[in-house]
Amino acid sequence: MTRVLFVSAEASPYAQTGGLGEVCGSLPKQLAQLGCEVRLLLPAYGALKARLPNLHHARTLQVAGHPEPCALLTLTLEPGLELWLLDAPRFFDRPGGPYTDEAGRDWHDNPHRFACFSRAAAQLAVSPEWRADIVHCHDWQTGLVPAWLKREPTAPASVFTIHNLAYPGRCDRSTFEQLGLPPEWWDWQRLEFHDSCAFIKGGLVYADRLTTVSPTYAQEILTPAFGQGLDGLLRHRAADLHGILNGIDDVVWNPAQDGYLHAPFATEQWATRAANKAFLQHRFELSVDPNRCLLGVVSRLTDQKGIDLLLAALRDPATADLQCVMLGSGDPWLEQAIRALAQEFPRRIAAHFGYDTALSHQVFASADAFVMPSRFEPCGLSQFYSLRYGAVPVVRRTGGLADSVFESDDGNGFVFDDASTPALLAALQRMHESYRDPARWQARQARGMAADFSWARSARAYLALYKSLL
Ligand code: ADP
Ligand code: GLC
Repeated sequence: MTRVLFVSAEASPYAQTGGLGEVCGSLPKQLAQLGCEVRLLLPAYGALKARLPNLHHARTLQVAGHPEPCALLTLTLEPGLELWLLDAPRFFDRPGGPYTDEAGRDWHDNPHRFACFSRAAAQLAVSPEWRADIVHCHDWQTGLVPAWLKREPTAPASVFTIHNLAYPGRCDRSTFEQLGLPPEWWDWQRLEFHDSCAFIKGGLVYADRLTTVSPTYAQEILTPAFGQGLDGLLRHRAADLHGILNGIDDVVWNPAQDGYLHAPFATEQWATRAANKAFLQHRFELSVDPNRCLLGVVSRLTDQKGIDLLLAALRDPATADLQCVMLGSGDPWLEQAIRALAQEFPRRIAAHFGYDTALSHQVFASADAFVMPSRFEPCGLSQFYSLRYGAVPVVRRTGGLADSVFESDDGNGFVFDDASTPALLAALQRMHESYRDPARWQARQARGMAADFSWARSARAYLALYKSLL
């Protein structure tokens, strides 16, 4: 039985800010079902400890370089899967999110917090009580784990998954010196990156295998356009880099049994689906019209997601017949631009700002088409949810979007190439034309709803990768 220490800063439903949390919530369960013995290690965020009264204090832990003792708290989740929490109160027992305070500002000591977490993970991986065969780490927050493991004489093998190369986890030289990391790591062939220390390089340089969350992104990050300055290093490691497409939890995301929906529906129950659309149009004070094509957006509001391209497209007279509901949070300037557009076009464009899981399900179940004009998208999960809920995706051909949405006669969505408003506009026009032919449209919706994007296939690919390392 393969013993996997799965290390992440987020895993739903325990702590989550985006797709990373969703993936690290689902994949460990699948690995356990495939027979692995999985320990999912997260920081013991204060709010999380409060929510889990049955945590077991397994042992006290002296994390090297950290004077105050920490603890390992555990909870058996299901056969083969235990939740492990690193309790380091000084770093994690605070209000706010995993990385930010209650006002949304980054904690100033994030490098210290995740350096401590990573050091502890590397210690736990080789402890005599439970020794891992594989340590699987995710994104910059855990980048130092493979680097520490390489210093152990008989370390388990490590896998590092890149969910988003745009977040390298950087700190300056004086912070690096405070962290008590080996001084020789300040080297361009190790962690140094343009006169800073980039935690993600610990994973990219030292992990035995690298993965990222779609085959297309695995190719893209080898190029300067997508490599965020790390493409040279990644080309050097290309033989160890694999693209494995994310999956979705199809129990949580099942429109036929979704408690968040105004009216749950199964494939082909188009009238029930239409009731959801009318509900959303009404809730957002749009014209309640079953024949008006309704676009949906659920997204972090950052440059990555290309929402500015959509805002420009919605001002174009060619889209005057389209409605749009947007749910998102992020960059204030984007929120402001969306607010202005909604004020300019009441009854047609509306938005809600904040993170709202229930509403996101309702948007997937109501929109006719779902728009993701991402400039880059390592995988993206929303296109899977939109497909499963019958909202036809209109996406840019990049990363995981290119691997999951196809625009052919028997395709499931609409795809454009250039990150430009004209290219998006043309795709929206092709979509709208198809929408006006209900039989063809419903066939496309039904194909999306029937497709299998569950984790089973991808989890087997990870397992095969682990086995190749044993
Ligand atoms: P990323 O992790 O880059 O933000 P993903 O598509 O992988 O992108 O995952 C984002 C997840 O977060 C999706 O499930 C999406 O539906 C959800 N999401 C994003 N913004 C919101 C929001 N404002 N409210 C609810 N869910 C959101
Ligand atoms: C990142 C990426 C997103 C991906 C998610 C989960 O947040 O931006 O594309 O789906 O990680 O892997």
